[in-house]
Amino acid sequence: MHRITEALMSWYDKNAREMPWRGISDPYGTWVSEIMLQQTRVETVRDYYPRFMERFPTLRDLAEAPEEDVLKMWEGLGYYSRARNLRKGAQQVMAEYGGVIPREPEQLIKIKGIGPYTSCSIASIAFDVPVPAVDGNVIRVISRLYDLHDDPTEVKAHEVIEKFAAELVPQQRAGDHNQAMMDLGATVCVPGTPDCDSCPLKKMCKAFAAGTAEELPHLPKAKSPKEIAYDVLLIHHKDQVLMYRRTESMLQGLWCFPMLEGQREEKELIAAIEKKWKLKAKSIQFEQQAKHIFTHQVWKMSIYTITVDDKKEIDGMEWVKRDQIADLPLPTAMKVAKLTLKL
Ligand code: ADE
Repeated sequence: MHRITEALMSWYDKNAREMPWRGISDPYGTWVSEIMLQQTRVETVRDYYPRFMERFPTLRDLAEAPEEDVLKMWEGLGYYSRARNLRKGAQQVMAEYGGVIPREPEQLIKIKGIGPYTSCSIASIAFDVPVPAVDGNVIRVISRLYDLHDDPTEVKAHEVIEKFAAELVPQQRAGDHNQAMMDLGATVCVPGTPDCDSCPLKKMCKAFAAGTAEELPHLPKAKSPKEIAYDVLLIHHKDQVLMYRRTESMLQGLWCFPMLEGQREEKELIAAIEKKWKLKAKSIQFEQQAKHIFTHQVWKMSIYTITVDDKKEIDGMEWVKRDQIADLPLPTAMKVAKLTLKL
C-alpha cells in the first residue's frame, strides 16, 4: 500500500465522521446519498437522507413514485434535476437491470443522473471497486499533496489529478479510502487556511513543504451571478391562489407563483397583469422584498398580494386552494412569498 494511503486509512479509522449512509449495505442508499451530497453540505443531507429513505425505502418505491412526490421530499435541497434524474435512473435500473444496481463504473455511468464522479463513488463505496472518486475536496487534497499548480477545471490538469488519485486507491477498502479523502478535505485540508498541524499527511505533502498549501488549488475566478428582478404575484380569488408548475429547465416541475420579469409601479403592474392574463385586479398591496441566491442567478423579488373578482382559467396555470399549497413542491425562492400567504 502507498504510504500516503496507509497514513490516511489509520487517520480515518480514528476520525471518520459518522453519517447515516455510512456502514449500510444497500447500494440504493449509497446512490441516494451520493446524489444528495453533490453540491450540498453533509449537514444538510443528514436531515434529508433519512426522511427520503423512509418515504422511498427501496429502488422500486422510488421508481414507482410520482415525480411530484419525489420533488416534495427534495424540497429545499436545490438542484432539483438531481431528484428528477434519480427517479428516472431508478426506473431505468428496474427496466434494464432487473432492479439490481450494477457494480462497475462503466455500467453505472449509463444511468440517468450518474456522472464520472458519482459512478466511481457508488462503485467504490457500495461495492468496493478500487477506483478513485474525485470530487472538489479530493481535487484540493491531491493538488496540495503533489503541489499541482494548473487549473484543475482544465481537462489536462484534471487527468493528472485523476492519475495521482488512482495511484492511492487500495485494492481493499476503496470506499473507505475515498471517503477518507473526502473527510480530510472537509475537516483538515479545507479551502483557504488548512489545518496542516492536524494533518496525517503533513510529512508527505509537497505543498506544505513548499509553503503553497493555502493558495492551492488554482481555481478560475467564479463569475458573479446575474441579477434578475421579478414582481411575484399572489393572486387571490376567494380561497384560491394562482400558481404554475414550471416547465423551464431551471426548477422544472416545481410550483411557483406567477412572476413578471422587471419591477413596476402598482398601476403598471395592474396593467401588465390584465394584458398578460386578462385578469382584472380588484385590489393590490405591496408586501415585501425578497432575495434568493442561486448559483448563477440572484432573484430580487417584489411580492404583491392581488385580489380578483372573476376567476378565469389560464393556460399553464392553476388555481390552487390555499390549504393544498403545503402539499406541493415549492422552491426555496418562493418561501417568503409562501409565508406572506399566512396559510
Ligand atoms: N461527499 C460526497 N460523498 C461523500 C461521502 N460519502 N462522505 C463524505 N462526503 C461526501
